[in-house]
Amino acid sequence: MGGVAIPTLSLSGCETPMPVIGMGTMSYPPVDIETAKAAILEAMRAGYRHFDTAFAYGSEKPLGEAIAEALRIGLIQSRDELFITTKLWSSFADPAQIVPACRMSLQNLQLEYVDMYLIHQPVRLTEMISRTPVAAEIIRALDVKGVWEGMEECKNLGLTKGIGVSNFSCKKMEEVLSIAKIPPAVNQVEMNPLWQQKQLREFCKARGVHVTAYSPLGANNTKWGDNRIVESDVLADIAKAKGKTTAQVALRWAYEQGVSIVTKSFNKQRMRENLQIFDWALSTDDLEKIDQLLQRKGVTLASILGPHDLVLELDAEV
Ligand SMILES: NC(=O)c1ccc[n+]([C@@H]2O[C@H](COP(=O)([O-])OP(=O)(O)OC[C@H]3O[C@@H](n4cnc5c(N)ncnc54)[C@H](OP(=O)(O)O)[C@@H]3O)[C@@H](O)[C@H]2O)c1
Repeated sequence: MGGVAIPTLSLSGCETPMPVIGMGTMSYPPVDIETAKAAILEAMRAGYRHFDTAFAYGSEKPLGEAIAEALRIGLIQSRDELFITTKLWSSFADPAQIVPACRMSLQNLQLEYVDMYLIHQPVRLTEMISRTPVAAEIIRALDVKGVWEGMEECKNLGLTKGIGVSNFSCKKMEEVLSIAKIPPAVNQVEMNPLWQQKQLREFCKARGVHVTAYSPLGANNTKWGDNRIVESDVLADIAKAKGKTTAQVALRWAYEQGVSIVTKSFNKQRMRENLQIFDWALSTDDLEKIDQLLQRKGVTLASILGPHDLVLELDAEV
């Protein structure tokens, strides 16, 4: 069975085209390697070619195994058909550790290069952590210049095709853009109808930085999200009139904003449902209704790292 053909977009400073929708791999509750690998292979059968992982998710190894298996069974002919994003964890956000951390992720993924390497969040942790929240003593401000130079080295060494950031505010974007020799290609941030990120998107657009939307379904059923998107009455009314689901309306809305999307489903039906967003459109009236939805940030650094002063300051940055 052939999968859905997903549109791609080209990013400045990244040689490989990015499929506009990618499969997230952060699961809640966490799943074992075999379950994640099977879900990723199923996603490839459905047509997904863009996968979003991170050292911190523990999903680099199952993704690597799934890619190796997909090549073995002929589901894909070449690794080049895939767009793989992974992220520098904050415990390695120290200039000397960036290239080694990238190499470690590549080893987990059994790959020679990734397509996109992102700074996971604008903070440094002085220790490796096994659970969150973390102690205030191990949180430090990010050495933006030193860390970005390390990211540039990863690209110059050919370990990644493109480099970018995640969870960066306009203020943090200014900092990195002011020192970058290679500007970030991507800023991956939370974005959905209930957290539309208008200001950040305008800022990034003006500077040629592409935005990728994570948690586009509000991270339904996870410990870092809630069901306010999939159970939104406004989205449900739009969905009903179009014969779609609320999830499809949320994903279509993000797609129409010109961003790329990473959304996670390890369920065979829902991962396919989430790809059925390319042959219909929202009306002006639908877009106006979505525009008026009350805004609330779902994912904060404080909810992950703890309500420490530096973390609260970062969350408050626009
Ligand atoms: N850079 C960062 O700091 C950061 C932060 C958060 C997330 N991310 C990335 O973005 C990816 C996506 O974000 P996310 O996982 O937080 O949230 P999400 O994609 O908004 O939501 C995922 C949740 O929604 C459920 N779901 C999926 N499709 C659905 C549908 N059609 N109807 C109803 N429920 C549905 C999934 O369950 P099932 O699997 O059971 O379908 C899962 O529990 C992550 O996996 C990760 O790769 C990055």
